[in-house]
Amino acid sequence: LPFAVQNVTQTIRLTTRLRVSSPIALTPIVSTPLIKQGDGIGTARRWSHSAKWRPVQVLDEWVAKEARPISLRQLMVFGRSLTESRLMSSANYVRTELPTRIAHRIRDMQRLPYVVVTNPHISDVYELYYTAFDSFRRIKEIKTSEDNDRLCKEISKMLHAHLTVIPKLAMGILECSDLISAAELDQFMNTILRSRISRRVIAEQHLALTETFHSHWFSPGAKLSEGEFIGEVFIKCIAKDVIEHCAKAIQDLARSANPPGTKIPEIRVSGHLDASFPYILSHLEYIVGELLRNSVQAVIEKHRRRSRDPAAEQPPPIDVTLCEAQQHVIIRISDQGGGIPHDILPYLWSFGKGPLKNQRLANLGRVPLMAATLQELRVEDGRLLALQQSAADKSGGGNGGSHDSSLSSLSTRPPNLRLGMGLPLSRVYAEYWAGSLELHSLEGYGVDAFLQISKLGNKNEQLTTRAAMDA
Ligand code: COI
Repeated sequence: LPFAVQNVTQTIRLTTRLRVSSPIALTPIVSTPLIKQGDGIGTARRWSHSAKWRPVQVLDEWVAKEARPISLRQLMVFGRSLTESRLMSSANYVRTELPTRIAHRIRDMQRLPYVVVTNPHISDVYELYYTAFDSFRRIKEIKTSEDNDRLCKEISKMLHAHLTVIPKLAMGILECSDLISAAELDQFMNTILRSRISRRVIAEQHLALTETFHSHWFSPGAKLSEGEFIGEVFIKCIAKDVIEHCAKAIQDLARSANPPGTKIPEIRVSGHLDASFPYILSHLEYIVGELLRNSVQAVIEKHRRRSRDPAAEQPPPIDVTLCEAQQHVIIRISDQGGGIPHDILPYLWSFGKGPLKNQRLANLGRVPLMAATLQELRVEDGRLLALQQSAADKSGGGNGGSHDSSLSSLSTRPPNLRLGMGLPLSRVYAEYWAGSLELHSLEGYGVDAFLQISKLGNKNEQLTTRAAMDA
């Protein structure tokens, strides 16, 4: 490195270390990373002296605040009889929660090894986070409807700006996976993704409540619970309906992504067909979509390899069993797709490690980076495109937008495009509302996936991962 750059690099490395380990060093020092120059595409980025110097005390103050987790039930109660004063409380909750939660993640990133933070994708995410943090922390108490409208505009803008975060993280951690231990990497990803889900939930919920409030302005305080949704929360999510809806979308996707004439497995649902619970529909659709996508593709591929006449014989069905207990609903998805290969099994839940790393990297290179999340991709004429209707657009465009657009929340990338994020991200979604996701592989035969959902809606969002709590 040229001397000047080396010098800056050294300073930053030192400050990063000192800031984390010694409170005395906190005050005058700035945060990482440096401003980038050049486009950073295909070439190593150049680093400059003109770093964004940022006062570290401000971040410290926000890092010291605890996040205030919320449950699905609280989200519903907030919106059930919406008054202007409740809307203002919701606004002020979001106004202070967003910078608090973002500050915690900025601090996590500062604690990563220096060489990881300076990865171009990771440092882009860092910049996005710092900009959002800085903008939200400056917003004054929301007292009037006009204040709230300004807050909503800022939220929509940020939701949109953060659409690239997941693909960037996915690329960044794959590129850095040799520079950090598997446990650290997965811990970091689990926490950052969980936190992102949480911020988007409270941000989108507030936008949806504001929208609902405006459309009921003539009768403030009117009971707003007649619909099936309160904000983003689907009050009565009927498991069977969601599965059938996802099953059809995934079968259509498999039909379009596999060679013409490919036999698509049937998906059968049995058990407690009335099981229902409050949930955020897009979260459930994402998890079920991923699991079914994996099962359908595994069955198709095994059938192609093993059947004497794959074009004539029907592949074995996928069985979904629903079980409603007092506190939980369990969804079991059983396929006969041959099980999970031995060498992949230990890395099933890992974001960056495993024998398929190079393939994942190559595949990620094919994904348009404007996709909001990896699920917000669609296939058109065999090409991958980002879905036009992003979460931010939806929230700006109406409360009902996300609820009936079948493919918006499903994983619509081609089933054979393996990015390595689907399963671990599904588990993050499942655990976020205090549920769980487990897979049992029956070698040579198939896979049983167990998704457990806490059905009362009274569990707080789980912002911390088990490993982080144990640490
Ligand atoms: C994110 O999507 O990562 C966010 O933090 C969204 C929030 C800034 C509204």
